[in-house]
Amino acid sequence: AFGPAMVSTGHLPPNPTVDTLVEEAWQRYRDVGDGKVADYIPALAKASADWFGICVAGVDGVTHAVGDTDRAFSIQSISKPFVFALVCQALGGGRARASVGVNATGLPFNSVMAIELNAERTMNPMVNAGAIATTSLAPGANAEERWRFIREGLSRFAGRELRMDEEVYASEAATNQRNQGIARLLVGYGRMYSDPDEATDIYTRQCALNVTARDLAVMGATLADGGVNPITGERVVDAERCKRILAVMATAGLYEQSGDWLYEVGLPGKSGVAGGLVTIAPGKGGLGVFSPPLDAAGNSVRGQLVTRFLSERLGLNLF
Ligand code: DON
Repeated sequence: AFGPAMVSTGHLPPNPTVDTLVEEAWQRYRDVGDGKVADYIPALAKASADWFGICVAGVDGVTHAVGDTDRAFSIQSISKPFVFALVCQALGGGRARASVGVNATGLPFNSVMAIELNAERTMNPMVNAGAIATTSLAPGANAEERWRFIREGLSRFAGRELRMDEEVYASEAATNQRNQGIARLLVGYGRMYSDPDEATDIYTRQCALNVTARDLAVMGATLADGGVNPITGERVVDAERCKRILAVMATAGLYEQSGDWLYEVGLPGKSGVAGGLVTIAPGKGGLGVFSPPLDAAGNSVRGQLVTRFLSERLGLNLF
């Protein structure tokens, strides 16, 4: 249904092939009307269902963009693998893994039942329990320093200074009693490593950092490139960390739909409720898609369609 697949060469195909296929993907899915813009964080409900951008960034630093690739939106859950990468880098992957876990829950991203059902409690850094625990491990003498560690680290992945969307932050901070509850529950299980309210606040801030589809592509390309940002040339994390982060994304990046995703796309990815989706083709590049309407699991509908199409046509599937 997607047309001919490219033979995998270990690199992205040469231009103009990538530009042509990115454009084709955008045209092919622009009129899809399925999905619903998230509204459980009130400020997110203002997003237009029509916003749609696609960007591919190769490990050579070349980007291919079409549509709304410079429109800012909050990174939300896509911050999770990148914060986990930074914390693994700072603490050592062994300690981060032991403190958070790397197994799938098979349950929604903000499930309290998953905490109760599994002895590991935090489960993995992609679901809220594990993500808030990961944020609580960020090094720093106080909340200000821990927040700076995360904001500056995520900015290094993007290759530019990321700023928080104050309105999204305020909106989520006023309505995230569920995440506060999760963090406090984890204290009871010995799986929260700083003050739970502080960790929830910093987690809410990290989720409210604004990015673009282009930023997501570059952040993804940095993980594809063994931890070196292909635009700035800066090493953000060690290559040894990258393969572990990508493994966790493959396991749980699309929550309870991670198995379907891996079956169809064959690449590690991570979604966010503002409509962002990042996918990594190891050794080749990153793909960032932005389209706010989500499916029932909280994953961008157009984002998944575009990624499936490009994975197939560009020959990116790992399997
Ligand atoms: O904690 C939350 O609910 C949001 N800050 C992030 C959730 C999210 O992005 C889930 N994604 N698909």
